[in-house]
Amino acid sequence: MSQKTKDMSRYFTPPDLKAAKKRGKEQVSVLEFESLPEEMREIGKGKKYLIKTFGCQMNVHDSETMAGILELMGYEPTETEADASIILINTCAIRENAEDKVFGEIGRLKTLKTENPELILGVCGCMSQEESVVNRILQKHQFVDLIFGTHNIHRLPHLLQEALFSKEMVVEVWSKEGDIIENLPKVREDGLKAWVNIMYGCDKFCTYCIVPYTRGKERSRRPEDVLAEIRELARKGYQEVTLLGQNVNAYGKDFTDRTYTFGDLMDDVRKIGIPRVRFTTSHPRDFDDHLIEVLAKRGNLVEHIHLPVQSGNSDILKRMARKYTREQYLELVRKIKKAIPDVVLTTDIIVGFPGETDEQFEDTLSLMREVEYDSAFTFIYSPREGTPAAKMKDDIPMEVKKERLQRLNKLQDEISRKKNEALRGKVVEVLVEGESKKNSEVLSGRTRTNKLVNFKGPKHLIGQFTHVRITEPQTYTLKGEWVEEMTVSRVSG
Ligand code: 5AD
Ligand code: SF4
Repeated sequence: MSQKTKDMSRYFTPPDLKAAKKRGKEQVSVLEFESLPEEMREIGKGKKYLIKTFGCQMNVHDSETMAGILELMGYEPTETEADASIILINTCAIRENAEDKVFGEIGRLKTLKTENPELILGVCGCMSQEESVVNRILQKHQFVDLIFGTHNIHRLPHLLQEALFSKEMVVEVWSKEGDIIENLPKVREDGLKAWVNIMYGCDKFCTYCIVPYTRGKERSRRPEDVLAEIRELARKGYQEVTLLGQNVNAYGKDFTDRTYTFGDLMDDVRKIGIPRVRFTTSHPRDFDDHLIEVLAKRGNLVEHIHLPVQSGNSDILKRMARKYTREQYLELVRKIKKAIPDVVLTTDIIVGFPGETDEQFEDTLSLMREVEYDSAFTFIYSPREGTPAAKMKDDIPMEVKKERLQRLNKLQDEISRKKNEALRGKVVEVLVEGESKKNSEVLSGRTRTNKLVNFKGPKHLIGQFTHVRITEPQTYTLKGEWVEEMTVSRVSG
């Protein structure tokens, strides 16, 4: 190893899956992000930053926090790599192809770094929590200046300062999760819709999943902090918030000073004057009756629930450690549909989990038919180093996995088409987000149930709620006509 690598120990707390697994019930402290000293606010003056984000909404929102911190340090945003003094790659570890993309990106940026040695290149997010990834970067990508983990984001000013003044790669990754940091600055990408973290981490340890290791143990933000943030967003004119957590249904289970659940939080959020409230992601196991009761009150709580099932077979679910059976999941779906008859359900499904037989896969297809999801994210199982499933025999040939994925997607497309067809002629409420990507004549927005609607209408509608009659439902989107000045009693779509 080179000098550069050997000198790491000063900064380096190696990410360690074993340590992550041994997490206890220690109290998590809530700390405030301290305002930066004057000299740190000067660091980025006249310089630009670029953050490249991979992965889920949690990462997108983390990037908004990093942008907030960088802007506090004086940096300005840019979309052009060549203009940037700092480029951060916010990475995703959920599947192997996500990691491959990131390594491709790091390799590509090497040229830029060679041309501009002053450029600070940083790698952060979920991949940086993995020991093997950090070691690979230390050994093969020594031009990287900075690596920091998902628990170290608030330390960015110090780490960046260190990277600017040091010739060595700065690495700070905590295996043990950090505390909850309030008052972090954020640059929200969108003025209409905002992400709001309600909790961090995951304690479910589904056997295929790397998240409990990369994101640490479950820890909930205090309700008063969450509610204050949402009230502030409403005051600023945001129209929609999405409450974020890896497993939002476990919200509050870690409180030692009170009994307050996700249902209680939703009931309080319901009373805030923000027109639409979503949440993601739900774990079926913790989805309780109280929450269903609260969601059935509707108002700003939209009738869309993303409820990952992963598999329709109880034996596979058991080996995935999902902690529910097919029957329990279906019972939950029945309860939800009874309380909210027009609910739109969406899901995540993994095909080709180790040992999945044809019959077991058929159970997933039949569950999909029974639930009739409006849409589904479907994935081929990808072994993640350090997870229990990675030690199981991955015995299904790739052609079989691909064929299963195709059959599943085909079935879902048929169901999605049918569900959307039922909206033909109906009038739906749309929050207009902007011009359509393909045609600037066309506006696009979303229904309460998060379906994309394209229609022709005046530009002043952008940022507002309007009504659209669905004329051409398609598999993934809806086309419609603007219903000018139409007053409708609340409709959902
Ligand atoms: N392989 C394939 N898909 C995975 N997911 C999580 N881990 C894996 C993995 N190892 C999927 C699950 C989860 C979604 C975010 O990603 O379906 O709900
Ligand atoms: Fe991963 Fe399961 Fe936690 Fe979701 S609930 S993040 S799939 S371990």
